[in-house]
Amino acid sequence: MAQVAPSLLSADFAHLGDAIRMMEDAGAGILHVDVMDGHFVPNLAIGIPILESIRKITDLKLDVHLMISNPHQMLDPFIDAGADSLSVHFEAAVHLDKMLSSIRQRGVKAGVALNPHTPIALLEEVLWKCDQVLIMSVNPGFGGQQFISTMVEKVRKLRAFADSNNAPVSIVVDGGVDLGNVADLALAGGDILVAGSAIFKSSDPISTFRQMAELAGDVTIEAKTEV
Ligand code: DX5
Ligand code: ZN
Repeated sequence: MAQVAPSLLSADFAHLGDAIRMMEDAGAGILHVDVMDGHFVPNLAIGIPILESIRKITDLKLDVHLMISNPHQMLDPFIDAGADSLSVHFEAAVHLDKMLSSIRQRGVKAGVALNPHTPIALLEEVLWKCDQVLIMSVNPGFGGQQFISTMVEKVRKLRAFADSNNAPVSIVVDGGVDLGNVADLALAGGDILVAGSAIFKSSDPISTFRQMAELAGDVTIEAKTEV
């Protein structure tokens, strides 16, 4: 079973509180929060004050995806602001082992994100220190891009790689996830399937979230929505 995590990047930022409440009502357990610095990726998005404000209004798990250069400088500020899990990009990390330890020492789940071109084999020495690995299924920086279909196989490979290393990591898939591929990604071994535009740009975000969650095999959704 996989969970669907709505990505707030595609929500209406003038009504962020409404979008969050909507996803709570829909039965979501995790919100995906994209942080961009205009350097590691050519876009700017969600920073510390916004994360602090989100933290104040919801108990949902906040999964923070740092698409920033020099992430080691920003771990504590994002943890202080309320992250429940924090993923840093492999491509931006110089001292990855140290960062993963620092994140875990603060009681937060530690994650590594891989751009589409970055091979999973590069994680061999740190997999045991990861709570989650995020597979980018688009090139990071923008919502609404087309899913790179070969990433389904990468998810399958990562699941086998993690199993053979006895590493119980959660696999997060991020970018272009929609009603058409969510079931395949769950079947391939994805645990948390991030969806931004598929949910928030649809005419009925609550029903789209629920349909996606059902296709992902999230059996808790039906129970939650019956209450
Ligand atoms: C892209 C971000 C994603 C983004 C996904 O760089 O990391 O989290 O919100 O958006 P969609 O689902 O629209 O591809
Ligand atoms: Zn993301």
